[in-house]
Amino acid sequence: MKILGIETTCDETAAAVVTLGDDERGHILSNEVLSQIAEHAAYGGVVPEIAARAHVEVLDRLIARALQRAGTALPGIDGIAVAAGPGLIGGVLIGLVTAKTLSLVARKPLIAVNHLEAHALTPRLTDGLAFPYLLLLASGGHTQLVAVRGVGDYVRLGTTIDDAIGEAFDKVAKLLGLGYPGGPEVERQAANGDPERFALPRPMLGRRQADFSLSGLKTALRIEAERLEPLAVQDVADLCAGFQAAVVDVVVDRVRVALRAFSTVAGHPTALVAAGGVAANGAIRRALTAQAGEVGLGFVAPPLPLCGDNGAMIAWAGLERLRLGLVDDLTVPARARWPF
Ligand code: KG4
Ligand code: ZN
Repeated sequence: MKILGIETTCDETAAAVVTLGDDERGHILSNEVLSQIAEHAAYGGVVPEIAARAHVEVLDRLIARALQRAGTALPGIDGIAVAAGPGLIGGVLIGLVTAKTLSLVARKPLIAVNHLEAHALTPRLTDGLAFPYLLLLASGGHTQLVAVRGVGDYVRLGTTIDDAIGEAFDKVAKLLGLGYPGGPEVERQAANGDPERFALPRPMLGRRQADFSLSGLKTALRIEAERLEPLAVQDVADLCAGFQAAVVDVVVDRVRVALRAFSTVAGHPTALVAAGGVAANGAIRRALTAQAGEVGLGFVAPPLPLCGDNGAMIAWAGLERLRLGLVDDLTVPARARWPF
C-alpha cells in the first residue's frame, strides 16, 4: 500500500509518499518539504494570503517530485491523503482541491486527514508505537495533552486557555528582536543564558486540570525586557533561558497531571509522546525523557524533520485511516477549525 500525502495548512508546502512494509511498519519513500519562512520572516509571522499564493506556486511540482523520488507515479498510488484542516483556510483549500482533483482523475480513494491527528499518529510511523499513549501536541497553533487510544479515538486531557507553546516562543522572540520562527532562535539564545537571573512565573503550576496558560509568563518577560531597554546580548540570552526554563517547568507539571488523568480514561500508557514543532526543543525533550523514566515509561518524539509540518505524517495518517476503511468523498470540506 502506497499513500501520497499533501500538507498545506500553514507555511510549509509538503508532499510525501509512505508505504506499508511487510513488517506492518510504515516506510517513508519520499518526503518533500518547501518552507515559506523566508516569505513571512519580514512580518514576524505567517501571512495567510502570502502562504496561500506560495502553496499554489509550488504544490504541483512538489507532488511530482515526491512521486518521482518514491520511484512511482499516480497509477502506482493506493490513496491520496490531504490535510483538510485545521489551518489557514486559503492554504487548506489549495491542498484539498488539488487532492480531490488527483483523486478524481486517477480514480484513487481520497482521505481527508486532520492535521493534528497526523502529528498525533507520527510516532507510530517512526517508532511503531502501540496504543494507548499520552501525547503532548505542541505547535505554533496548538497545545494539547491527549490520550491517544486508537485511530480516531482521542480524549483531550488538557489544552491552553490562551497562547499555544510555539506561539509563546514566537512572541517572545519577536519581543526580543529575534527572527521567525521564534522557537529555534529562543532555544539557541537560551543555551548561553542564565535561567535564574529573572524570577519568571510558572502559570498553572499545581492546578488539578492539565491545562496551560502562557500569556502571563510572556507578559512578565515583556516587563523585565522593557525595564532593561536597550537590551545587551547577555540580557537577551538570560531572558530566553529564563523563559525556556519556566516553560519546561510548566510542561513537566502539566504532563504529571495528565498522566494521572490518563489512567482513568485509557489505562496504562505505552509511552509518553511529544509531537508538533515544539517537540524539536532540546530542553523540553530532555525534561520529558527524565520524567517518563521516573514513572517507568519510554519517551518518544519524532526525529526533528518529522516534528514540524511535513507530508509524511499526512500520508501515514491517511494510510492508518485507509486500512480501517475510513475514506472520504469529494464533498469533504476544508476546515479552518477542526478539533480532534
Ligand atoms: O508543528 P509546526 O511546524 O507548525 C504548526 O504550528 O502547526 O510548529 C511550529 C512551531 C513554531 O511556533 C515554532 O516556533 C515552534 O514550533 N518550534 C519550537 C522549536 N522549533 C520549532 N519551539 C521551541 N523550541 C524549538 N526548538
Ligand atoms: Zn503542525
